[in-house]
Amino acid sequence: MGSKEVLRHAALCLPLLLISLGCQCLASSEFQATQTATLKVDASSQLARKIPDTLFGMFFEEINHAGAGGIWAELVSNRGFEAGGPHTPSNIDPWSIIGDDSSIFVATDRTSCFSRNIVALRMEVLCDNCPAGGVGIYNPGFWGMNIEDGKTYNLIMYVKSAEAAELTVSLASSDGLQKLTSVTVPVAGTSNWTKVEQKLIAKGTNRTSRLQITTNKKGVVWFDQVSLMPSDTFKGHGFRKELISMLLDLKPSFLRFPGGCFVEGEWLRNAFRWRESIGPWEERPGHFGDVWHYWTDDGLGYYEFLQLSEDLGAAPIWVFNNGISHNDEVNTAAIAPFVKDVLDSLEFARGSANSTWGSVRAAMGHPEPFPVKYVAIGNEDCGKKFYVGNYLKFYNAIRVAYPDIQMISNCDGSSRPLDHPADLYDFHVYTDSKTLFNMKGTFDRTSRSGPKAFVSEYAVWRSDAGRGSLLASLAEAAFLTGLEKNSDIVQMASYAPLFVNDNDQTWNPDAIVFNSWQQYGTPSYWMQKFFRESSGAMIHPITISSSYSSSLAASAITWQDSGNSFLRVKIVNFGSDSVSLTISSTGLQASINALGSNATVLTSSNVMDENTFSNPKKVVPVVSPLRNAAEQMQVTLAPHSFSAFDLALAQSALVAEM
Ligand code: AHR
Repeated sequence: MGSKEVLRHAALCLPLLLISLGCQCLASSEFQATQTATLKVDASSQLARKIPDTLFGMFFEEINHAGAGGIWAELVSNRGFEAGGPHTPSNIDPWSIIGDDSSIFVATDRTSCFSRNIVALRMEVLCDNCPAGGVGIYNPGFWGMNIEDGKTYNLIMYVKSAEAAELTVSLASSDGLQKLTSVTVPVAGTSNWTKVEQKLIAKGTNRTSRLQITTNKKGVVWFDQVSLMPSDTFKGHGFRKELISMLLDLKPSFLRFPGGCFVEGEWLRNAFRWRESIGPWEERPGHFGDVWHYWTDDGLGYYEFLQLSEDLGAAPIWVFNNGISHNDEVNTAAIAPFVKDVLDSLEFARGSANSTWGSVRAAMGHPEPFPVKYVAIGNEDCGKKFYVGNYLKFYNAIRVAYPDIQMISNCDGSSRPLDHPADLYDFHVYTDSKTLFNMKGTFDRTSRSGPKAFVSEYAVWRSDAGRGSLLASLAEAAFLTGLEKNSDIVQMASYAPLFVNDNDQTWNPDAIVFNSWQQYGTPSYWMQKFFRESSGAMIHPITISSSYSSSLAASAITWQDSGNSFLRVKIVNFGSDSVSLTISSTGLQASINALGSNATVLTSSNVMDENTFSNPKKVVPVVSPLRNAAEQMQVTLAPHSFSAFDLALAQSALVAEM
């Protein structure tokens, strides 16, 4: 470039540079704009109200492989070879063979010893001089098995061979080349099925392993119900520990299960059936969930959901099919057997160990009843032709048999009274962030008579949510502050969906993302942590004064934790300005201690920021001491942030009625 050209270039660029600098200044001065606001809390006991103990809980749906290949720790996928359907030969996916056509022939047939899941796998070894490593079958689990060095895995399988055989069971890398452990399993020659139990101890770690069963000996061996479970599961109950610990961390007060649409099915023949999901795991037929398009062996069945509720310290909420799917319905005139089926399910949960169904539960290891106090009669079926008719049949029968059970209708009672009796009505909302933020006032206007609301599914979705954005979590937090304030009429709320296996994201976004060995919470997961002390706490009226108040949402509670008491002020700053906020509290029965007070903030530099496996803590709450905590105090709210200010109370200041 010559000197003239340089000058000409500079002359052209300078204005652009100035414009761009100007823009930057404008942008940064916009960023730095500080709004002011005052938030007053009236913590006097006369105006305090107890939040229901049940307010914040969880909704678990078998969606996104949340259960099979998720919290249920079974490593083998399609363990009974039933996923390909009852007609043989059938697809054995994801099982596959080791060897080629000349050395091995595998096919399903209907010779299982289990009558409810009759399909088994026949493996014929054709080679006289088989390859050194043998031929056989392998199962890659759910996108690879997480096998960890030093850990024990319990293998159970059923085998049959007319002649004595010798099998090698191993855990290996996905290409079979790296062996993590290997054991020899002799099979006696008999015409009967034999149960094989073997412990496998891994001598290495591989996150995408497979289970292999091979042999070098010509002959025929049948296999069925091949299970591989890590020995180390939550309370020994079969749940993946690290995923359960994320649930425990939110202290859920209830667990709604097992769906959602999963309960309904696209067609009734594919809906979840509790009866098929109980008893010995080997005898469960499994089923294809046609809404979310995958097979489940139903190792995570009705009993396990009840057990999970107990393990989480959460009240079970059983959502049962009411004779309605997405595409077909049972006429109310013919609903009686479905009603009987549900009564049996309640006897299974609540009946004595001597009752018909209670004895089945007891035989499974739980003689004490499970305290089912809530049931939902269907999911999102209001408006369907036979909904109200079927609902009333279920409602009346359950009311007589279990008068204390609270029943949840699918019909939204927030805008108009229901035309049928109910204890609660279900309310679902998936929307954009602005709409949900503004919905914080939805229940301000609902009638105080009639059934209470169960907001059993809420989330920001679509473009505002990304794959779990800060923006979504802020709007959801605002919405929840509204539910807290209206918790005289809103009795329960849960985010949806809870889990996603990253390999099968049918529904986006979700609260917890995992694969075979990693997991992280989206901002929507972390947002819920701010509300975990709310159930059973006292809520206090607040007022916000600010010209910016349309971007703010807040609530105030007092809560106790092992002898310590706190006033917690939560506030969402949904706007892009920072806010200088004065918090003043009156009516407290004790003074505020700076020591032990702290602030927790969920924010990030970009409102669309998300967590990922590589950066799982990009958007997580950050806790810091609140040294200026006092009856009147000044704090700064970052743009696009959610903050909780926990003010330690000098003595048990919680109103006595708690
Ligand atoms: O949460 C995902 C789905 O959303 C649920 O299955 C259904 O109830 C709702 O439509």
